[in-house]
Amino acid sequence: MKSLIASGRKFAILKPCIYLIILWIAGSCTTSPTPRTYRIGFSQCTNGDAWRQAMLAGMKKELSFYPQVSFRMKDAHDNSKLQQQHIREFLHEGIDLLIVSANEAEPITPIVEEVFNRGIPVVILDRRTTSKLYTAYVGGNNLEVGHTAGSYASSLLRQHGNVLEVLGAAGASPAVDRHKGFVQGIAGYPGVRLTAQVQGDWKRPSVMRALPAVLRAHPEVDLIFAHNDRMALGAYQVCKQLGLDRRIRVIGVDGLAGPQGGIQFVQDKILTATLLYPPGGEEAIRTAMRILRKQPFEKENILSTMVIDSTNVLTMKLQTEKLASQQQDIQRQQQLLRAQLATYTSQQTILYVLAAALLGAMVLGVIVWRAFGVNRRITRQLEGQNQEILSQRNQIQAFAERARVETEAKLRFFTNFSHELRTPLTLIMGPVEELLTNGADLTAGQRHDLSLVRRNTQRLLQLVNQLMDFRKIDVGKMPVRATEGNLVAFVREIMDVFEKPARQRGISLRFLPAEPSIRLWFDVNILDKVLFNLLSNALKFTPERGQITVSIQLVPAERSVRISVEDTGCGISEQDRAHIFEWFYQGNQDVAKGSGMGLALAMGLMKLHLGTLDFASEPGRGSTFTVTLPLELPAALRSTATSLPSPAFMLTEEIAPAQIPDDAPAVVSTGKDSEALVLVIEDNEEVNAFLAQKLRAHFQVKTATDGAEGLRMAAETIPDLIVCDVMLPGLSGLEVVAQLKGDWRTSHIPVVLLTARNAAEQQVEGVQAGADLYLTKPFNPTFLLENLRTLLSNRERQREHFRRAISVDTATVAPQRVDQKFLADLTAIVEANLSNSELSVEDVARSLGISRVQLYRKVKAVLGTGVTDFIQGIRLTKARQQLLDTELAIAEVAYRLGFSSPSYFSASFKAKYHISPSEFRALHTTPSV
Ligand code: FRU
Repeated sequence: MKSLIASGRKFAILKPCIYLIILWIAGSCTTSPTPRTYRIGFSQCTNGDAWRQAMLAGMKKELSFYPQVSFRMKDAHDNSKLQQQHIREFLHEGIDLLIVSANEAEPITPIVEEVFNRGIPVVILDRRTTSKLYTAYVGGNNLEVGHTAGSYASSLLRQHGNVLEVLGAAGASPAVDRHKGFVQGIAGYPGVRLTAQVQGDWKRPSVMRALPAVLRAHPEVDLIFAHNDRMALGAYQVCKQLGLDRRIRVIGVDGLAGPQGGIQFVQDKILTATLLYPPGGEEAIRTAMRILRKQPFEKENILSTMVIDSTNVLTMKLQTEKLASQQQDIQRQQQLLRAQLATYTSQQTILYVLAAALLGAMVLGVIVWRAFGVNRRITRQLEGQNQEILSQRNQIQAFAERARVETEAKLRFFTNFSHELRTPLTLIMGPVEELLTNGADLTAGQRHDLSLVRRNTQRLLQLVNQLMDFRKIDVGKMPVRATEGNLVAFVREIMDVFEKPARQRGISLRFLPAEPSIRLWFDVNILDKVLFNLLSNALKFTPERGQITVSIQLVPAERSVRISVEDTGCGISEQDRAHIFEWFYQGNQDVAKGSGMGLALAMGLMKLHLGTLDFASEPGRGSTFTVTLPLELPAALRSTATSLPSPAFMLTEEIAPAQIPDDAPAVVSTGKDSEALVLVIEDNEEVNAFLAQKLRAHFQVKTATDGAEGLRMAAETIPDLIVCDVMLPGLSGLEVVAQLKGDWRTSHIPVVLLTARNAAEQQVEGVQAGADLYLTKPFNPTFLLENLRTLLSNRERQREHFRRAISVDTATVAPQRVDQKFLADLTAIVEANLSNSELSVEDVARSLGISRVQLYRKVKAVLGTGVTDFIQGIRLTKARQQLLDTELAIAEVAYRLGFSSPSYFSASFKAKYHISPSEFRALHTTPSV
């Protein structure tokens, strides 16, 4: 505001200056009021002789004093018609005054009268019209000229002699008047006679042509009077030609100065005399200007005449020459004046321009100054706003940062909290699993309750795992480790889990793979989670007697595979559609609300896998979720893990969901108690106590609560086996293993590492440190026991046992060290459940205490087949044995070996051995006749 006031004050100071400049410019412009411009038209009878040119020169000289006059001359070239036309043109073009010198009086009179009658002033110059309708006349008195010539000739002839008259052009007023005057002049002298006449046309040739004959006819002629000097010269020349020049004297009219003028002729004695007849150009313009300016003027402006002969010719010449030189001086001065005027005008123009520029600059300056002021004010405002925005932004950033830190802390808390939940959940799951597995004397009610506990613990673990997966995706720590496998078999095994719960609710679960086998690189862990989620949802939202269809299609054009899960459920409402993939979105589903993580997790996982997850839904009719997987995965996402002998299959990172049936078959224990000493190194007292309690039933047990103590005890007691936690205070479990393996006393002791963390890197680290086994909490105690037994037992014997146990079909596979026990257990579980037609992959995995995914990975890694195929293989191998060794009916064999129908058994048998069961039996048995 202040700057505005300041700029206003400055403008107030500037204001008078601007006014002064404006006044000065205005004043400069008005000091000499612009004179009126006059248009003068001059109709000249001819401009072809020196006298007329002297007339024009005189006019121009005079006009130079009137720069505001626009002067135009039209030359009629001695042609009266042309002159009439010229005057008409002047009328048409517009003139303020006409000067006319009529070629012939008669023909020119009407048009001049018309001009005059129109109110345009007319100045008659030299040659008159026949009319009195004109404004002013300028010129000599031709009557007087003729009269003076007559008198002078008479006196020359001493009143006796013969005169010849050369007349000007007929019809021209001077010719008429000069003749009249001449006749009058000689009339007083009876001895002087006008004996002959020659009709001239004011020009010399006319005389040269006509005069010789006339002179010959009139040899008495003593003197010739010609109406102008040019014709007089002609007369002299004729006389000279005729040898009469000494006798005949010649008198002319005009008395023009200059080398071809009458004065020079007189001096040269060509002419005896000439009568001064001034052209009157200056006087004509002067009179015209007086008329135009409405100043008083004379109507008749007669220019005086005089005789110039040998007596005064010199004086005249000198005077005319002086006049001429003065004339030249005046002209030079006028030129100088004009130049100065031009300079002055241009300087004045420059001055005006400069003044205008100065004024413009001042105005601009004021505008710029004000704009600058406004600009500064706006800039200050903007700066203020900027500051405000900046501080707001900083505040927002600080809030955001605080929110981020708080969210991060919360997430960390939740993750750690979830993580911590795993240990107590393990401690719940362990005894429950054991009770369900080994508690043969449990009542049906107790079994039901325990199954309820197990199911809900599994549910809790699933939620905890999902939360941890969310965290891993969120912080970019979820790895993709794809392996190559048969996608169709993989999906079928996942569907297998849902078959029973679907059946229980009368839901038809259909599987429609486009191809029997699709080999693809995919991360089984990721895809399992995704499909498990989608199928769980489909099952959750499909009403009884509904339908779930899983189809697999190859899309070669897009280099992808599509797995779609279609249900006939309630569909997804309009408002939920945009949000179903958002983390923790609960939606408006009134029924079966989930954690809000399943679909978001599936979407996050699919993105990591470079795939997509889409859905289409019609409320009330169902939804279809489609997973699209790329046919090729970049090398970075591929894993070579399956080729490594990995203990990873033993990690229990997945727990089955609520839909999993509770009546899992009991695991057949293959272990045997031992007196072996097991050292437990675990800092969590409860876990330590739990482990010790579980193991004491089978082994001698010692416990330590940190790494250093563990190492000391290991060195002291040399146990047969060590179970060690990874997360220990002080020395970590990894360091303990490394030290044990580096000490020759303890290097042979098998070490099982236990941890609540299931990061693959740690597992690898653990194995690299020398651990023989790496188990992730929560672990199944039975499974732990079995593994400890396995580590302690004779592996070679077990491998043989395994080879014998499984058919020739799998014998070609040479199991690795750690695989032997697994395969033995797997085979044992399957064999123990041969008659159970509902034995699912999930059941087998649970019996082994591992997840379905781990089971899949392990079976695939060791045998190169799917779990279902493996189970089927054992069933069919057993079938062969029973067909050969027993006499059971084929239907009986089928049911005993868990085939749902004899026809399904026959078809499966034939598909594998290319022979039907009855044909097989017939071929291999000799009929006992
Ligand atoms: C010029 C002229 C003069 C003469 C005058 C008469 O054209 O012939 O010699 O005096 O015209 O109008």
